[in-house]
Amino acid sequence: MTTAPAAAAYDRARVEAALLRGGETRRLEIRDEVPSTQDLAFNLAEYGAPDGSLVVADRQTRGRGRLGRTWESPAGAGVWFSAVLRPPASPPPRPPLLVAATAVAVSEALERATGVRTTIRWPNDLLAGERKIAGILLETRDYEPAAPLLVLGVGIDTGQEEADFPPDLRASATSVRMEKGAAPDRTAVLVAMIEAVDRWRARVAGGAHGAVEEAFRDRAAYLERPVTLLDGSVKVAGVLLSVSPVDGVVVVLPDGSRRTVRPEHARELRPA
Ligand code: BTN
Repeated sequence: MTTAPAAAAYDRARVEAALLRGGETRRLEIRDEVPSTQDLAFNLAEYGAPDGSLVVADRQTRGRGRLGRTWESPAGAGVWFSAVLRPPASPPPRPPLLVAATAVAVSEALERATGVRTTIRWPNDLLAGERKIAGILLETRDYEPAAPLLVLGVGIDTGQEEADFPPDLRASATSVRMEKGAAPDRTAVLVAMIEAVDRWRARVAGGAHGAVEEAFRDRAAYLERPVTLLDGSVKVAGVLLSVSPVDGVVVVLPDGSRRTVRPEHARELRPA
């Protein structure tokens, strides 16, 4: 049961205006309920939806997160959206950079629209304090290198109180409402997201990979703190020295040596 007051519907005209500022004609679908905005975005892409087309839903009945997890998406409690990405085929897109750029964009936009400051927990969770407030999911299907197509999903918890989260998430999840005492205008959050994601995607496309890495590092959670993480299936404990979407995670082990965990193997980074 949700205690959140009913959230206002999205203001379509303001979202359309933000999409237009990106310069191209993009498709916009705002739905009351879908299984997952990811699936609808893939469907639209199959029928030719252009780069940057957006699917937004008030509620998802089968929202999904990374690593096969469920993403709770009750009506009006968050901003749930997916964008169709059609990056150029050459040079080939680098998904870890796109995800890192999106994490920075979401962090910036959330602060601008709501005042909630966040850090990025490797590789792409947004934390307010020690609790998760937003997540990012980048997916492909039947990937065709000559015409790359990806769907970028973002979920931001905006309207929940602690009791609204499932019991297993209550200690680790938060929302804008919990951080600021009131749920935000979701249209303002979505518009800020569109602007920031467009800006950071343009940087990635322009080859400003160093700027993405630097912004990611500047917002990284747990730096210089004792952490644990998985290197494949091996648990590693040490002090977090650096994080990079390209090079991975570096920790200083108890014997003073350094261990680099490759990005594709680094998971479950947590404070020790
Ligand atoms: C994660 O942290 O595991 C990623 C969560 C991504 C959730 C968003 S909500 C909009 C889009 N539709 C989905 O089914 N998932 C993503």
